[in-house]
Amino acid sequence: MIKVEHLAKRYADVYAVNDISFEVEQGEILGLLGPNGAGKTTTMRILTCYMPATSGSATVAGYDVFHNSISVRRQIGYLPENVPLYPEMRVKEYLLFRARLKKVPYRDRKMKIGESIEKCRIKEVENQIIGTLSKGYRQRVGLADTLVHDPKILILDEPTIGLDPNQIRQVRQLVKELGEKHTILLSTHILPEVEMICGRVIIINKGKIVAMDTPSNLATQMKAGSNILLEVKGDGKKIQDALLGIQGVKKVIWQDGGEINNFTVEAEKGMDTREDIFLNVVKNNGIIREMRQAPVTLEEIFHQITTHEQEVTI
Ligand SMILES: Nc1ncnc2c1ncn2[C@@H]1O[C@H](COP(=O)(O)OP(=O)(O)OP(=O)(O)O)[C@@H](O)[C@H]1O
Ligand SMILES: [Mg+2]
Repeated sequence: MIKVEHLAKRYADVYAVNDISFEVEQGEILGLLGPNGAGKTTTMRILTCYMPATSGSATVAGYDVFHNSISVRRQIGYLPENVPLYPEMRVKEYLLFRARLKKVPYRDRKMKIGESIEKCRIKEVENQIIGTLSKGYRQRVGLADTLVHDPKILILDEPTIGLDPNQIRQVRQLVKELGEKHTILLSTHILPEVEMICGRVIIINKGKIVAMDTPSNLATQMKAGSNILLEVKGDGKKIQDALLGIQGVKKVIWQDGGEINNFTVEAEKGMDTREDIFLNVVKNNGIIREMRQAPVTLEEIFHQITTHEQEVTI
């Protein structure tokens, strides 16, 4: 549904997007994951025909974004980074205005708006003035707007940014539901978000794609090198020495708590040391009260991926 080939966008001498290629299949929810300034919004703006690329090509539903912008826009529902709603309008009035702008045929407008309102669960606020809505509801009005002309593809730029945890859950659920009928490209800088919503993820950093896989493959790959957190009852010094003696363990950080000791065990990449940890702690009369893998953060993933890349290229 979306095909991007060697796309690049340059501002003066900085590349915001630098030679990226990827495809989004029909029915897929693809996450574009990256830190601030990675190039997510730039990529989306090019795909939605809001600005031209410096080089490369992109098609949406078979239409070239540079030459067929009207056809492309008809296929796309775009939720921009800062949803530009009219605060003085009422919700339904705004959606009607947008439907007219998007040239939804007159006879279909009422039905399409009704469907969008229902899908985004904003029936109870349809007559409310947009400026008085909570942020979560405003975001849902933005989503309803993306649906009003019944597009095949949704491009959502950080749909959950700035929402409270409850609203985040609701909007994520909504996006997931929309994924049953639409092909979705969404951007985020939160790893658990792509794990929850997306079938596949592209990690983008400094305008370049650094990884492309399913969230679970990425997480497994990353967890293989992640730290183990331990809470052990017993002789801290003795257990630290035992942990250091395990093959593949690089570093052990010991937080001395007297009887109860906490350890962070860092292993070589790809080494699963958990069983040896268990056996060695027990052998040294320690009692494991807790053993878990440290959560993998986006920062760690970037660190791992970028370091790995450098090792490969040197
Ligand atoms: N109009 C512009 N002029 C100059 N540089 C720009 C312009 N727009 C974007 N950039 C630069 O391009 C890079 C990519 O920006 P972009 O907005 O695509 O990042 P992003 O991944 O969406 O980040 P964020 O998570 O902060 O939204 C950044 O370094 C940004 O400063
Ligand atoms: Mg952005």
